Amino acid sequence: MSDVRARDLAERAADLDAADPLGPVRHRFALDDSVYLDGNSLGALPLGVLPRLSDVVTHEWGQLRIRSWDESGWWTAPERIGDRIAPLIGAAPGQVVVGDSTSVNVFKALVAAVRMAPEDRTEILVDAATFPTDGYIASSAARLTGRTVRAVPAGEIAAAAGERTAAALVNHVDYRTGRLHDLPGVTAALHAAGALAVWDLCHSAGALPVALDEDGVDLAVGCTYKYLNGGPGSPAYLYVRRAHQPRFDSPLPGWNSHADPFGMEPAYTPAEGAPRGRVGTPEILSLLALDAALDVWHGVSVPDVPAKSLRLTDFFLECVDALAPAGRVESVTPAAHAERGSQVSLRCAAAEEVMGALIARGVVGDFRRPDVLRFGFTPLYTRYADAWRAARALADVLADPNEGNP
Ligand SMILES: Cc1ncc(COP(=O)(O)O)c(C=O)c1O
Repeated sequence: MSDVRARDLAERAADLDAADPLGPVRHRFALDDSVYLDGNSLGALPLGVLPRLSDVVTHEWGQLRIRSWDESGWWTAPERIGDRIAPLIGAAPGQVVVGDSTSVNVFKALVAAVRMAPEDRTEILVDAATFPTDGYIASSAARLTGRTVRAVPAGEIAAAAGERTAAALVNHVDYRTGRLHDLPGVTAALHAAGALAVWDLCHSAGALPVALDEDGVDLAVGCTYKYLNGGPGSPAYLYVRRAHQPRFDSPLPGWNSHADPFGMEPAYTPAEGAPRGRVGTPEILSLLALDAALDVWHGVSVPDVPAKSLRLTDFFLECVDALAPAGRVESVTPAAHAERGSQVSLRCAAAEEVMGALIARGVVGDFRRPDVLRFGFTPLYTRYADAWRAARALADVLADPNEGNP
């Protein structure tokens, strides 16, 4: 690798950053000189969160106390914030509610989907490489509903769906490899087989195009602490397609999803619309931190986001190819744009040690067992220069006989 080529890449990074329409959005985040490529695990802190939370704590909680459920709009925050997420996942208002963890929402969505299916549809398909929580919960959902689970590679779910399939639970992006699955195609194939499609959007929403309404998705869930930057443990969201809402039979019918929560009736009557996905008292501090975090999207043209994601990952792959010692890393993230998430996963010997050495050099990605280095690219704040610096540091670590070598 010549110094000329390295300089050329560094110059290109500077040019790309200068021309980036999302470049100024980075200033809305608390970031420093390190290269943060772990936003696919925990998004960076938006600067507006702290003052908002300070006000929520000191004024809304500290002074208004109980009055804030009404006067500060706490009670309706789950739907209101759901409607703020809706445009990022291609949903019209009134179909998204925020609350509980992703795992809990996977449970609600999958059980409700199976309850919509006829009894003779006896199986639930699950993407075989799923994030583990989805698989565990699908097994429990199957036991509770008297169905069985069949694990099928995500790319084969469309072909596997048949007359016995009640629903399929699929990850939009594989968390380990960064592979983006064909949401419109798989959803259409499931529908052709008479089954429902439940998607986990944790690794796509906020970075990639998602068009739930247009693609006919039945139910979907996603977290808000990755590309939506809601903070550690921020609540997840649940999308229930409007046409399905009257049939959404929640397996967790808490008092918050009752048609008249303060009627305190012994019998359960479900609320109409998105609130039917609620369970108990909303986690107000986390919800309102997320609300403030979503302000970073003001003025952002949503199509700019996936366009930058692909340009960033293309550029990172090019830099790794040019700078890293030959044969030491291999991308397991697809090269095809239509199959690529907003991360690059590199298979690498001694990956854990290599990532440790990168973090020590100020390049923060993460490691997934047994041998994957993950680098997440958040289009709202990752710079092309970050991609270049990460590839440069990786090349240095791999070339250093004292570091990251098996
Ligand atoms: C694809 C996917 N689904 C589910 C989860 C788990 O979500 P939670 O911990 O919010 O329940 C994660 C967490 O990273 C994930 O990546």
